[in-house]
Amino acid sequence: MKIGVLISGRGSNMVSIATACAAPDFPAEVAVVVADTPAAAGLEKAAAMGVATAVVAPGEFADRGAFEDALANTLAGHGAEGVCLAGFMRILTGRFLDRFPGKVLNIHPSLLPAFPGLDVQQKALDHGVRFSGCTVHFVTEAMDAGPIIVQAAVPVLEADDADALAARILEQEHSVYPEAVRLFAEGRLRVVGRRVIVDTK
Ligand code: GRF
Repeated sequence: MKIGVLISGRGSNMVSIATACAAPDFPAEVAVVVADTPAAAGLEKAAAMGVATAVVAPGEFADRGAFEDALANTLAGHGAEGVCLAGFMRILTGRFLDRFPGKVLNIHPSLLPAFPGLDVQQKALDHGVRFSGCTVHFVTEAMDAGPIIVQAAVPVLEADDADALAARILEQEHSVYPEAVRLFAEGRLRVVGRRVIVDTK
């Protein structure tokens, strides 16, 4: 399955997905990495891995709808059937999601439904939780609220600051996102209500 990866920044999750996809037996390949800003450091990392890149910047379009159309057209133009958001800092509306129904994934650095939104490692520390982690989920119009595909938990240590916790979570992100992409590309994920059922091979 060809997938497109959307990024806004450093792109470490994109690298973990592209690295997994480079293995001969992996059921997906990264067709294109698209950033919403030319400043995204991940663009160079993708190019260094031989992956096609594109920039679709919202400022170049009359409105959000035109931006989302261009984003979807760029992905489709590279043959992408699925889309992975990987540190993509924009909320996508139904206009985009309807172009890839049930085929857009996101990773979030908390154990959803706890701590949706931004600065979530600090929120986890402030709340005093003993465990946090990351969640790969299907994207719906409600932010960070779609059906959950995989999660990984990490302990929150008393000496942690947000950066230390983020680093511990990120290490898990780099293993669960490729795993979710594998299950997705193998066609093994079935959404039943809020739940994602993983079919055995
Ligand atoms: C990750 O923590 C991801 O969970 C969140 O944004 C961060 C992106 O990091 N959505 P990177 O660009 O993949 O390195």
